Parts: sequence; structure tokens; C-alpha cells
Amino acid sequence: MMQKNTETTRRKADHLEIVCTNNVRSKLTTGFEDVYLVPRTLSEVSYDSIDISSEFLGRTLRAPLMISSMTGGTEEAGVINRTLALAAQHYGLAISLGSQKAMIEHPELARTYQIRRYAPDALIIGNIGIDYLVSSDFSINKLSHALKVAGVDAVYIHLNMVQELAQVEGCRDFTAAYSKIALMCEKIGVPVIAKEVGHGMDPITSKKLEDCGVAAIDIAGLGGTSWAYVESYRGSEIGETFRDWGIPTCLSLMLLADRTSLPVISSGGIENGIDITKSLVLGAKLAGIARLFLAKAVDGEDALSKQIENIISEIRCTMALIGVSSIADIHEVPYVVTGKTREMIDLLAKKY
Ligand SMILES: Cc1cc2nc3c(=O)[nH]c(=O)nc-3n(C[C@H](O)[C@H](O)[C@H](O)COP(=O)(O)O)c2cc1C
Repeated sequence: MMQKNTETTRRKADHLEIVCTNNVRSKLTTGFEDVYLVPRTLSEVSYDSIDISSEFLGRTLRAPLMISSMTGGTEEAGVINRTLALAAQHYGLAISLGSQKAMIEHPELARTYQIRRYAPDALIIGNIGIDYLVSSDFSINKLSHALKVAGVDAVYIHLNMVQELAQVEGCRDFTAAYSKIALMCEKIGVPVIAKEVGHGMDPITSKKLEDCGVAAIDIAGLGGTSWAYVESYRGSEIGETFRDWGIPTCLSLMLLADRTSLPVISSGGIENGIDITKSLVLGAKLAGIARLFLAKAVDGEDALSKQIENIISEIRCTMALIGVSSIADIHEVPYVVTGKTREMIDLLAKKY
């Protein structure tokens, strides 16, 4: 297939290359180091019978894990999506696509997003950005068609204001964003999940999104890939300044878990099973990982499999070490929150 070199596909190709070849993490951490799960020195748990299956959007996942939204629209992206999808199918994980704007603009790029053939049983989540919804190009019919062609079960709307504002060619006008999200929730025909992309979700936004009718919230907090900073590699003169802007993942999760009845996905800077287990204890339904899985997928199917197996093993070990044998019981686990996260939670309790 001839590569369509449009602005959208060029940007997606830039993003893949920048993330794979540079340290684009925020300098601030997720905050999970402030969460202390009280250990059980000896618990009568059998590692092999620990049940880590999780329910999400009426589906059962074999592990509480999502391959977060990344890519599509280029040949290379198509290969990466295939590798990610095969892993999602094999391990029973949820998987999401990168922004489908490129395939709306150029329907011939659809096959780089069509991962259902590799993951027939997986929960697959499509993706579109708020920049598309607020643009004059927004068409609910075109979006709906793109989701059908990709064979998805739900769709993410990504709210990446920091990235757009840092991006040289980014969106500057978010007027009417919520009414467009409400329209999408009403008309699109699959559950809509709202996510950030690495700068975190606040409780006021989350409440407004709930009122719009979203089915779940993915925090995508600060502590991992910083999308403002990624844009500094593409010529943004302000991207570096905003590298650490936002809400660390752990803080964002704690703020939302107490204030919303929607299922919450913990993501942004998550790289191991201890942080995933901490997320579940704090109230998340599952956790998402982007950059780490991308790095392994680029190295091939075996590298990605090894990484996923390690993470699953880390979740099981952590659960054994806190004395729980199913995710349903995880909320009983005693924990303590210390440090900066504790301080911020206490200060912010009075603001929201
Ligand atoms: C190469 C790459 C491309 C991404 N593209 C998208 C995208 O199209 N849509 C989206 O919602 N998020 C996108 N993201 C953001 C991730 O889904 C995730 O929210 C963010 O990177 C934070 O997670 P991490 O710290 O595990 O990387 C992308 C991430 C990566 C690494």
C-alpha cells in the first residue's frame, strides 16, 4: 500500500519515532510510591488459584489490563497494532486503537486499524480526539462508520488539551466540547470512554463527562509519557515548559474514585504489577499501559509476551503478599497513603 503522507499520518509517524527513541516521561512520578499496601507476612493463598479476571463494560478480561491507545494510519503502525492485538487475544486483555482521525480522512488506511482478525475475542476500543469533535469536519456518521469498519466494542474520546495547546499545529478552540461529547454519547451506538493522554483527569471534568453520558473514565495521568514534552521534539517551543503539567496518576485516581460512580481505568506511567494492584485497591477497575508495551512490541511478539507475563505474575505475587485471592476482595486490603500524595489529597478535599 502506498503511504498517504498527510499531516495526520505524518504526526502519528513522528509520535511513534519520538516515543521510541527518547526519554519523554514527565520528571514527576505517578505518586504510587506514596501508597503502602500493608503486607501479610504469611497468607494462606495459592498463587495458581488467584483469580485476576475482571469485569469491564459487561465483558470479562482474563487480567485487569488494557493495552492503551497508540497507533494506526501508517504501515509501521499496522504492524505494531497486529503485534499488540495478538497479545491481547492470547492473554485476554482489552486493547485500544490510536486516533482514528487518519482513517476518517483516508478510508483506505482502515486496514492498519482492523485488528479484529487478530483478536476475535478481545474487548477492542476505538479512539478519536477532542480536536476532531470540535472541528468543522466533525461528522457523527463518518465517525460511526470508522468505528464499524474497525469492528470496535466501545470508543475512547481523548481529551488532550495540554498536548493540543503545546502542538505547533494543534487545536486552539475547545468551545462546545461538552455538547459534542454528549452528542457522541447519544448517537454513536457504543459506550464512550473519556481519557486524557498523560496529564490526568480532574473531578470537575469527570463530573461533566458523567453528565454527558460517558460510560467510564481513563485517568491517563502524569508520571509516564508526557505529551506536551513529546511535542517539544516536533518544534513546540512551550512543550518542555509543560512537561510536568497535570495531575499525577495516583492522585487523579484517588480524587475520582471517591467522587464518581463510573468505572475508572488507572493509566499513565504504569509499568509493573505492584502499581496495577495498588490502582485496584484504590478503586480502579483495570489499568492501562502504553509506552512500555510499545517499546516491547517494536522488539517483537516474544518481547511483548514476556513483558505481559511478568506483569501478570507481579499482580499475582502482590495479591498473594497482601493476602487476597480474587479482585472482588481487593477493596478489603488495608493501605496507607503518605507523602506528597497524602498532602495533595487533604488539601484538595476542600476544593472539590
Ligand atoms: C506512540 C503513542 C501514541 C499515542 N497515541 C494516542 C492516541 O492516538 N490516542 C490516545 O487517546 N492516546 C494516545 N496515546 C496516549 C496513551 O494512550 C497513554 O494515555 C499515554 O501515553 C500515557 O500512558 P503511558 O505513560 O503508559 O505511555 C499514545 C501513546 C503513545 C506511546
